[in-house]
Parts: sequence; C-alpha cells; structure tokens
Amino acid sequence: MERIIVGIDVGTTKVCTLVGEADAEDGLRIVGVGVAPARGIRKGVVVNVQEATRAIATSIEKAERISGYEIESAYVGLAGAHVSAINSRGVVAVNRGERGIQPADIERALDAARAIAIPHNREVLHVIPRSYTVDGDDGVRNPLGMQAYRLEVETHIITGATSSIHNLVKCVQTTGVGIDALVLEPLASGEAVLTDVEREMGVILADIGGGTTDIAIFIEGSIWHTVVLATGGEHITNDIAIGLRTPFTTAEELKIKHGHARPQAINPNETLDVAAFGEGGRQQVSRQFLSQIVEARAEEIFDLIRQEIKRSGYDGLLPAGVVLCGGTADLTGIRDLARDMLNLPVRIGAPQELHGLVDILESPAYATSVGLLQWGLRHDAPRPARVRRNGHFKLPGWLKAFLPERQKS
Ligand SMILES: Nc1ncnc2c1ncn2[C@@H]1O[C@H](COP(=O)(O)OP(=O)(O)OP(=O)(O)O)[C@@H](O)[C@H]1O
Ligand SMILES: [Mg+2]
Repeated sequence: MERIIVGIDVGTTKVCTLVGEADAEDGLRIVGVGVAPARGIRKGVVVNVQEATRAIATSIEKAERISGYEIESAYVGLAGAHVSAINSRGVVAVNRGERGIQPADIERALDAARAIAIPHNREVLHVIPRSYTVDGDDGVRNPLGMQAYRLEVETHIITGATSSIHNLVKCVQTTGVGIDALVLEPLASGEAVLTDVEREMGVILADIGGGTTDIAIFIEGSIWHTVVLATGGEHITNDIAIGLRTPFTTAEELKIKHGHARPQAINPNETLDVAAFGEGGRQQVSRQFLSQIVEARAEEIFDLIRQEIKRSGYDGLLPAGVVLCGGTADLTGIRDLARDMLNLPVRIGAPQELHGLVDILESPAYATSVGLLQWGLRHDAPRPARVRRNGHFKLPGWLKAFLPERQKS
C-alpha cells in the first residue's frame, strides 16, 4: 500500500516541507517540496511565534501546491540547546510461559525506563530502546517471543524544555497542520545520511546548520548520545560581517563563494572586491584573511564537537568516524579541517537514493528534511494517509517542464 508522509524541518535559516509517497518497491518518492526562508527562529528555537508561523505556512503552501496534496499532519523536526538526553534502564518480571515475551511486556519495560524524575518544565520527546537483556543475557535486539522471567531494556531518553516544545507545536498547529510526531533533528538527519554499517561500527553524526550543531553518536546500531550545540554557520557569517565591516548578506555571499576552512590553501595575493559600510562602499579584501575568519569559527565548532565526543565517553569506539551534514558541511575545506581536528575519518553526507523531486534535496542541508520522512516510515506503523488529494489541482505547464519524466502524468 502506498503511504503519504510529510515532514517539516523548521531550521534557523530555512523551513522545508516535504511530501513523500512511499511504497514497498520504489522506496521514497518526493512529490512536494516547499522551502521558505525562516523567520522568528534563533539557534533552532522559536523566538517569535507570529513570524515563525508565517514562514512555516509559506513552506507548507508551496509543498501543497507542488504535490497537489492538502497536508493534514506531519513529522516535525525539533532542535535547540534545551534538548538533553540520558540513558536509563527499565526492568520488569515476565510470566507468559510458552508464549514468551509479548509486546505488552516490552511496553511495560519501556515505561519502567521512562519513570525517571523529570523536572516539571521538561517533557519526554523520545524513549528509544537500545538493547534488551533477557534473563541476564544481554545484547538482545528483539526479545519478542523469547521465554523469560526477567526483561530489562536499556533506553536513550531525550527530553526538551516544555516552553520551547509548545511554541513550535503552536506554530505548526496554527497553520492548520497536525503533528504526527516531533522528531529530534539529529535523529532525522541520521536516517538520511548514515549507512547501517556505520551505525553498527560506531559513528558520529554532526549536522552543522545555520544556528545549531546537532550531534548524535550511534554504536552497535543504536543511538547512544545526542546533544544540540547553539553554534552554526550563521556565527561564521557574523564573524565575517564584523571582521570585514560588511553587511550580513554580503558576508554570507562571501562565505559561500570564497570562504575556505583551510586558509593555508589560499594564495596570499588573492583579493576580493567587497561591499563595505561607510563612504566609497567598496574595499579590497584578502581571500586568505576572509578564510582565517572562517577557519577560527569552524575550529571552535570542531573543538566543541571534540569535547562532546570526549564527554560521551565513547571516543575510541567510533571506527566509522564522523559524517558531516547540514548546510555548513558544504563549506570548502571543512572535511580536511574536521579530519585534522578530530583525528577521525570524515565524510560529507547527503540524502541519497531518492526519487521524484530530488535536485535540491541531494545536498547535506536537506538531511533533516528527508530524514524526517524516513524516520516516520521506519518508526511508525502504517496508517491511513493523513493528506487529501486536492481535486482542483493540475500541474501547470511550466512546472511540468522541470519535473523528471515519470513525474509528468
Ligand atoms: N557552500 C557553503 N559554504 C558555507 N556555508 C554554507 C554553504 N551553503 C550553506 N551554508 C550555510 O549553511 C547554513 C544553513 O544550513 P542548514 O540549511 O542546514 O541550516 P538550518 O537547518 O536552517 O538551521 P539549523 O539546523 O541550525 O536550525 C547557513 O549558515 C549557510 O550559510
Ligand atoms: Mg537544520
């Protein structure tokens, strides 16, 4: 059965709504994309409900227009430095005789793990089972049907600040779209860019976006550590704007076109003609100097990532190294800088094996957006599609010209 699934990634710089059709043979086909510049979001968190709502609505409307579906509910990404995670264990007695462990027993074990003291101003976002122990035998992936007296589960519990969560929920619901689930952004990004082999071996995912750097560590196939840091690409741009006394938009363009995370790779005589504040309005800037500004902040970000890996206690257990995604992963030279600073293999990850409207999506900046669809597919049982075909919709001719062959029905 074909299943329609919608994801909304509310980032610091962009809001991206994707509509996907999933079926058993083809995998995921993207039939709607709506990207709008983000407003009212800072460091991954809603700071202005009206502005954020409008940006989300714009993105949803675009995705509806292109897909021809009316969106009723979606998986929504959540990030921000308020998110935190702990590992917790739940134990229950089982007495099912021949039938072995039943789904209800697993549910009880998860509830037991979940029963930790959480401050009243925080909410549980995810309770992710990492592995089970059945009558003392650990490392069990799926205990269903196993005969046992005692079932233990190791979980990774992710919580967030109630106020930040509610502000995001309010923005999305005000647009008239319900929420299937809130998904922590690095979990979504991980779905889109990590391979099963990497997750098994041990890997760090770092999604360096505009306002946040999301980190997730996977070992033996499951999540062990997550954290959201409040630093990202916008900080690099800000540094350039201040360092070169130029407007933010100019700084952003300079970073993307000419910025380099390894200034030593740049010819010291190379100069750029740059807009500046004040009289005259132009200045000559050394590209190497620009890149030194970029490097300083990028180094700081990797320093934070390095500390986080250390803090997790899993350094030395991560042979698959680091996978970078998020828009800042497109920064020239970032792979080499990351490898040198973290002393681990580094690869840039982008969503792959997509069908449909894929041209902009196969880039590291869209890892979360695509991953939200994949997370929904993997973790939730299929249910009736919560979107409707919009009967009045027809693809305009100009749009058809841009679509891949199989899309133009
Ligand atoms: N080629 C590039 N070189 C350097 N930086 C880039 C490049 N392309 C995009 N970026 C940066 O990536 C950032 C946006 O990344 P992304 O779209 O992943 O962020 P976001 O999801 O909106 O924000 P967040 O996840 O932090 O809330 C911006 O700061 C942008 O300047
Ligand atoms: Mg993002």
